[in-house]
Amino acid sequence: MQGLTIAKPNISLTFVAHFRERDMSKITAAITAVGGYVPEYVLTNAELEKMVDTTDEWIMTRTGIKERRILKGEGLGTSDMGTEAVKQLCKKRGIDPLEIDMLICATTTPDFQFPATANIISDKVGAKNAFGYDISAACSGFLYALVTGSKFVESGQYKKVVVVGADKMSSIVDYTDRATCVIFGDGAGAVLLEPSSEGVGILDSILRSDGSGRVYLHQKAGGSVKPASHKTVDAKEHYIFQDGQPVFKFAVTNMADVSAEIMEKNGLKADDVAWLVPHQANKRIIDATARRMGVGNEKVMLNIEKFGNTTSGTIPLCLWEWENQLKKGDNLILAAFGGGFTWGSVWIKWAYDSK
Ligand code: UT7
Repeated sequence: MQGLTIAKPNISLTFVAHFRERDMSKITAAITAVGGYVPEYVLTNAELEKMVDTTDEWIMTRTGIKERRILKGEGLGTSDMGTEAVKQLCKKRGIDPLEIDMLICATTTPDFQFPATANIISDKVGAKNAFGYDISAACSGFLYALVTGSKFVESGQYKKVVVVGADKMSSIVDYTDRATCVIFGDGAGAVLLEPSSEGVGILDSILRSDGSGRVYLHQKAGGSVKPASHKTVDAKEHYIFQDGQPVFKFAVTNMADVSAEIMEKNGLKADDVAWLVPHQANKRIIDATARRMGVGNEKVMLNIEKFGNTTSGTIPLCLWEWENQLKKGDNLILAAFGGGFTWGSVWIKWAYDSK
């Protein structure tokens, strides 16, 4: 399988301390490498125009999506994309997969109901010494997993924790439903977390959820409430159901609020923020979040136009593509909103110069 490639980062964790004073004795979890993978097949708006009653103009103006990647091939699933991302990450950091202590996979489209996709990725990359599990938090999954992984590093117990965000959304998209099939794409990103005592890494987070939002965004069948049957298949209940407008309203408000909140909590002004790394569900939601933070468009990472909404993949894939532009000490605000409802924000001080 082939994906995009980026330059090998030059990592040095010697920190030049001209940033806000922090407790340097504290162990933090720093991202020290990023990997990514998107499938080769490009599903364009033009192709979707032939499949459902839609137009390139509607999709672009309402969502900002021009194309998305789709994983084709019998027997390939989320773990195959996650595996590629983790292999690349290990190569870039120059580590043997046997050094990985823990691997967490955020996904809404696991390979199987069980076992965890994290375990399958660990097996496929040869991370024989890693334990791990999946995190299910829809589009906020990567943030939930990142924060979870960071706590294992901060505790001092684990030195190399890999966090994967991977989804084969095409496996639960109904390509006759124009309301959802134009939005989603497939892809995977992964980051390596390692301990740092230099005041860089994941410095703060706010994670929230509200399960009453489940009525607006869910998959109706295939779980324990409604196991798969001929009836559920005929009724197309194994696909994403989304009532777009209420989700949009909740997303706009909550993603913007939680991003502004983490800045206020940590005394960060718009000028202090080098990058906003938002979940890519809708360009209009991203614009509203940036406006609320007072952050200019030039500081917003965007991959929605070419990858669509890859759910758990959006944020790590942004980091993967922008890695070469990131500098040690850059303040990044990661923000997401998704099914559940789930939402949150994370403040990261970037740990290395890529070039
Ligand atoms: O990632 C996790 C969380 N998810 C989100 O954050 C998604 C949030 N929601 C959204 O991004 C937007 O609600 C959508 C992009 C899903 C939909 O955009 P919208 O502006 O809210 O459109 P809508 O659902 O209100 O539909 C407006 C019209 C409807 O037609 P009528 O009833 O006005 O005649 C839809 O049937 O647009 C129609 N429509 C389409 N037309 C052309 C819906 N989908 C399409 C389509 N092409 N693909």
